[in-house]
Amino acid sequence: MQLFKYLQSQGIGSRKECLQLIENNGIAINGILYNDTRCTIRPEEIRTLEINGESLVVVPMPYFYILLNKPAGYETSHKPQHYPSVFSLFPNHMRRLSMQAVGRLDADTTGVLLITNDGGFNHRQTSPKCKIPKLYRVTLKHAAGKTLCATLKNGVLLRDENEIVTAADATLESSHTLMLTITEGKYHQVKRMIAAAGNRVEQLHRCKFGNQTTENLPEGSWKFIFM
Ligand code: URA
Repeated sequence: MQLFKYLQSQGIGSRKECLQLIENNGIAINGILYNDTRCTIRPEEIRTLEINGESLVVVPMPYFYILLNKPAGYETSHKPQHYPSVFSLFPNHMRRLSMQAVGRLDADTTGVLLITNDGGFNHRQTSPKCKIPKLYRVTLKHAAGKTLCATLKNGVLLRDENEIVTAADATLESSHTLMLTITEGKYHQVKRMIAAAGNRVEQLHRCKFGNQTTENLPEGSWKFIFM
């Protein structure tokens, strides 16, 4: 692959900007300076990338998959309205790539958020037909007992919907902590399910999306995952 095309695919700049960076001795790959605009590289062999001496995250190609431990106070949107975007947690060059969130988490929800540029993967993960389990830890406003779990597993009717939604699983860890698994991702689904069951969500954390968890990943941190 031509080096300047690779640099473009990393979100580094336009064709002209990337060619200029190469000409001006601005590019080092695996510690070696490249200054020939015609040179070619193998993307799979690139371990480090420096631009004008600054080390940059190397984004896997052609598809990347990211696991973010989303902190509270960020919107899952490229055009946020009230809080900063989750995409502001990434380096500038990555933000120029086509980063799509796999479903949304509300601004006040924390935990597993997947981000990718693979539209097919995104569709498969979010399609209700694929029934990917999502596990949430729900902090409840009111003390709850086994009835809440039974209600959620039997199904509740959400406001403004005419279909019953059911929890794939629901267990109480304590009177105010519910572990809830759902396999769809309707708008505000957990909050609306809990409201329909007569309680209220105080805090929401997504512990797991499919097999992906935030274990050993501090809040606000992210990593590439390989699917
Ligand atoms: N359900 C909600 O209500 N909010 C989220 O952020 C995720 C699921």
